[in-house]
Amino acid sequence: MIGRLNHVAIAVKDLNAAIAVYRGALGAEISAPQAEPDHGVTVVFVTLPNTKIEFLEPLGDNSPIAKFLEKNPDGGIHHVCYEVDDIIAARDRLKAEGARVLGNGEPKIGAHGKPVLFLHPKDFLGTLTELEQA
Ligand code: CO
Repeated sequence: MIGRLNHVAIAVKDLNAAIAVYRGALGAEISAPQAEPDHGVTVVFVTLPNTKIEFLEPLGDNSPIAKFLEKNPDGGIHHVCYEVDDIIAARDRLKAEGARVLGNGEPKIGAHGKPVLFLHPKDFLGTLTELEQA
């Protein structure tokens, strides 16, 4: 069921500082910032040959990454995202396996304009896991 690694997301307090590190030290190719008010984050994409890295900066008062950054003030890996061919079928299978789907269990449109779901980190090796419709 699980497909390609779509991205690894790194939460950061300061997007511009993060961009400077990756662009400067690593010579990375980085997109323009994109505000995602529905998700409480501003996002940039680092394009790699085989996948993407996303930097997430809190947006608004109730950002879902605010608490994470309190615990990880230098930033840190926030989640991994895998592609699935059929997100509804994937969700139903995971629920049948006992995995917890976050939120109301319905896919939201993610940063790439495709439906996404998040799975509880306690069910996936302590790692917040996102699924994105391929
Ligand atoms: Co993501």
